Amino acid sequence: MKKITLVSGASSGLGKKMAKLLCQKNHIVYVTARRKNELVNLQKECLNYEGEIKIICGDLTNTNFREKIISQILKEEGKIDYLINNAGFGRVERFEKQSINDMEKMFNLNVISYIHLTNLVLKNMLKKNKGKIIHVGSVAIFVPRPDYTVYNSTKSAIYAFNRSLRFELKNTNVSSSMILVPKIKTDFAKNAFQNYSQEECKKYVKNFNKDAENPEVIAKKIIKKLDSKKEIIIPNFRAFVCYASRYFPETINLILGKFFIKKNKN
Ligand SMILES: NC(=O)c1ccc[n+]([C@@H]2O[C@H](COP(=O)([O-])OP(=O)(O)OC[C@H]3O[C@@H](n4cnc5c(N)ncnc54)[C@H](OP(=O)(O)O)[C@@H]3O)[C@@H](O)[C@H]2O)c1
Repeated sequence: MKKITLVSGASSGLGKKMAKLLCQKNHIVYVTARRKNELVNLQKECLNYEGEIKIICGDLTNTNFREKIISQILKEEGKIDYLINNAGFGRVERFEKQSINDMEKMFNLNVISYIHLTNLVLKNMLKKNKGKIIHVGSVAIFVPRPDYTVYNSTKSAIYAFNRSLRFELKNTNVSSSMILVPKIKTDFAKNAFQNYSQEECKKYVKNFNKDAENPEVIAKKIIKKLDSKKEIIIPNFRAFVCYASRYFPETINLILGKFFIKKNKN
């Protein structure tokens, strides 16, 4: 029987790579994002794969849309085996300059959409006593950086949510994990520096992507550990070091203060 998987934010970056790999592995992958043409391209690219790509296009910050996705999948398939909460974005700038609009959008997408989709799939997963939820987190939770203040708060909120949820799922066959994603070369940086001048944005994006990991490499690591029951999934050495830094946060803050805060940018 084919696995039924939902990947949010599959029109680009990490989500697109994960959706492709899952489709190769014979999953029926429901993909969602706002850009329909990108999802259609993904579907075409996967035509010869074992599995199938099914598109549900829309804005995940919309409550009705999130309800529509889950009810449509359950109606068509009767189950969801894997939920991958991946859609997300950050606006990187000094906190006092951040607009409430950007803050609300970040929380709506990076936090509310994750917990609402989880809430919507959980009933079905618990009834079948089977299922896996994966939240795409960030190393930023353990290595906070200036200008990422609100973005970090969103990812930290999901970290806390996942920890509590795991207690509730303890005696079931349903599990929930978070991936600690390191810097990856996607559209993330372009969106993150959107509020700067074109010239500044280009410079910061280039700087961000300089040592960023290939998203395909990270996607492969995630898919390999899809059934892991661990709380935190660590896809590479950089993520491991960041996670380990929770044992010496004071030192990390000291280093950050010395090397990053005065420079202000990445
Ligand atoms: N890149 C990094 O360095 C990095 C590091 C750590 C963690 N992460 C996390 O990794 C995840 C994937 O990001 P990425 O790096 O692959 O960036 P990306 O290429 O920009 O992908 C973001 C995805 O989210 C979707 N999305 C954005 N706003 C949406 C909305 N309102 N409704 C529905 N979908 C929406 C985008 O699709 P549409 O625009 O078509 O809607 C896109 O498919 C995010 O959670 C991000 O926070 C990234």
